[in-house]
Amino acid sequence: MSPKAPIRVAITGAAGNIGYSLLWRIASGNCFGADQPIILQLLEIPQGMDRLQGVVMELVDSAFPLVHDIVATDDAKVAFDGVNQAFLVGSRPRGPGMDRSDLVAANGPIFVGQGQALNAVAADDVRIIVVGNPCNTNALIAQRNAPDIPAERFTAMTRLDHNRAIGQLALKGGATPADVEGVIVWGNHSNTMYPDVSKATVKGASVVDTFDADWLASEFHNTVATRGGAIIKARGASSAASAANAALDHMRDWWTGTNGKPVSMAVPSKGWYDIPEGLMYSVPTICHADGTLEVITDWELDDAAKAKVKASADELLKEKAAVADLV
Ligand code: NAD
Ligand code: LMR
Repeated sequence: MSPKAPIRVAITGAAGNIGYSLLWRIASGNCFGADQPIILQLLEIPQGMDRLQGVVMELVDSAFPLVHDIVATDDAKVAFDGVNQAFLVGSRPRGPGMDRSDLVAANGPIFVGQGQALNAVAADDVRIIVVGNPCNTNALIAQRNAPDIPAERFTAMTRLDHNRAIGQLALKGGATPADVEGVIVWGNHSNTMYPDVSKATVKGASVVDTFDADWLASEFHNTVATRGGAIIKARGASSAASAANAALDHMRDWWTGTNGKPVSMAVPSKGWYDIPEGLMYSVPTICHADGTLEVITDWELDDAAKAKVKASADELLKEKAAVADLV
């Protein structure tokens, strides 16, 4: 079989903490496969270019067979030229005492210019994950500024929350993450997210039937929803390796498909579950091997779950209103 043609993979904020973890795993074939050559197209701000040159030197020194070229630039149109897969990470992380939504004034405008640049120069098949916070609203901003790219190619990352929920259930259940299935995180990547275990199992047993209901409703839910802040407090810096890992999981699943199993992805709502149309909202999503994303639209939600889904949608509406001039 002849070798595959390289795909172009853009990473913004490539000299940052998440970038430093993400790049090595993409370059080693961990996301798009061990037989898929790539061209890395790395974006930084001008003040980050020296650090980015150092990162590029280390990438060269890693001699990855799959890496056919590396572009390092502070021009979004160069970074996104012909790009097939885009990881939009570059933006400011929050510090102690801040909410992720506090970042929207600083970070929102970044996604106007990047949406426009993607619109102008990305490949027809481009797929985009927004990681930079507040990621749901930043993804909305980018999508609204890229009218020629189908809206469903824009996604925001709630996979870290999904993985956190799996991690907590595995710990509590004396199991491994591989034993945990069926967890879905709904909504905004914020404290209003709803980690839904109504269909989850651990070692095949229903979580709702076998775990303590009070623990699920309080400690589990709070731990998952506030984990980002807890990590900032403990580490003095925002989660980075786990965030990079989640971005890989998200894009790898979109690349390979999930064999009919739903994962948590924030995608543009089409009004399912009364989530206002257009909001970037995390819902149970099946990735098909042809690259299409199918939202499960008949997931049963009881009244308590519906209230949580609505609360997160209401928060996203407020975030959207705060950036009305950008969308
Ligand atoms: P970092 O500060 O270590 O790195 C960010 C990098 O982005 C820096 O090198 C900076 O120079 C660069 N940058 C800033 N503006 C840019 C722009 N306009 N274009 C290109 N590059 C730009 O931060 P980090 O730890 O890598 O986190 C990056 C973002 O990811 C933050 O907003 C953080 O809150 C977010 N995050 C999201 C999740 C999630 O689950 N969605 C998880 C962790 C972190
Ligand atoms: C996370 O969830 O770890 C990130 O979104 C960083 C943050 O600000 O919480």
